[in-house]
Amino acid sequence: MAKKVLVTGGAGYIGSHTVVELIRAGYEPLILDDYRNSDPSVIQRLKQIIGKEPEHVVCDVCDQNKINEVFQTFDISGVIHFAAYKAVGESVENPLKYYSNNISGLNSILTVIKRNPQIPFVFSSSCTVYGEPSGIKEVDEKTERAIPTSPYGYTKWLGEQIIEDLFTSQGDLKMMSLRYFNPIGAHESGIIGELPVGKPNNLLPFITQTAAGLHNELTIFGNDYPTHDGTCIRDYIHVVDLAEAHVKAIDYLFAQQKGCNEIINIGTGKGTSVLDLVKTFERENNIKLNYAFGPRRSGDVIEIYANVDYALSLINWKAKKDIKDAVKDAWNWEKSIRHLK
Ligand code: UD1
Repeated sequence: MAKKVLVTGGAGYIGSHTVVELIRAGYEPLILDDYRNSDPSVIQRLKQIIGKEPEHVVCDVCDQNKINEVFQTFDISGVIHFAAYKAVGESVENPLKYYSNNISGLNSILTVIKRNPQIPFVFSSSCTVYGEPSGIKEVDEKTERAIPTSPYGYTKWLGEQIIEDLFTSQGDLKMMSLRYFNPIGAHESGIIGELPVGKPNNLLPFITQTAAGLHNELTIFGNDYPTHDGTCIRDYIHVVDLAEAHVKAIDYLFAQQKGCNEIINIGTGKGTSVLDLVKTFERENNIKLNYAFGPRRSGDVIEIYANVDYALSLINWKAKKDIKDAVKDAWNWEKSIRHLK
């Protein structure tokens, strides 16, 4: 029988793509979401891709009683925990919102995991835990974590710490944190993708919305950084590759006889500048994008990309897609939701 994997935040951007890949791998995802940052129509969109409506429950991940009930009602074999807030700027303006949601959501799930150590647990972490790398820009998992630059960053930093402390107290748990670099792109079908609430903060959604006419121009934050073209460098990872990494992570944890707590970078291993991404978008989609250089955005890291050796050796995962695929898929998705040709 297919193993049921609870996907908290399963209607969100990365969650929904992971639901598709879980089905493809023979798992039975159970989406848990209260749609505060996603749209219920995602369930029907997923049905279009996977041929059936995925099982789903409406629940606030912080509601311990309801979470307990979900675990009593369903025979859950594994958990992938996405549900959390992720807007850096908003977290600076409203830190308590981030600490209360991101930390209590994690806490309520881990409370159940603690009682059920056979259930593997995968956590969405972020390369934000590295801060600005000093010296070498390629970071591996042994690179020391830095003091986070935002409350959002702290919730990921603290999330990893909570998991580590729990594992220290109870070594039979099977846990893995995935440190995502910069997820971009959409499903190649154009049926699911990122649905930013309000004005997007992240680069590629802002590019696609500008190309679709929602904004007059893209501002590139800074062109005087010490990089090849003066703009910041990131490791952009296609969301479908990232979704597959979650499947490999849960496969790995299911195969473990003993407890473990692993942390893995999920990126491509390649750095791409803001301007490289803009130009790739223009070239691959044959579009001229209106952009201008503006001042630096405060808190931005100059350059960071992943060392991805550990992901390959531990869970046999590496990225298959590149930024060309991502910019085409993201534009295809933007056109489909805006009904553009
Ligand atoms: C941000 C978060 C990171 C989080 C990630 C989620 C910060 C400091 N970090 O990463 O913690 O995990 O989102 O995806 O916010 N850019 C522009 N113009 C724009 C938008 C972005 O030039 O309109 C530039 C930024 O200055 C940056 C690059 O594009 O150099 C990527 O920005 P963004 O997509 O916001 O991601 P990060 O800042 O890397």
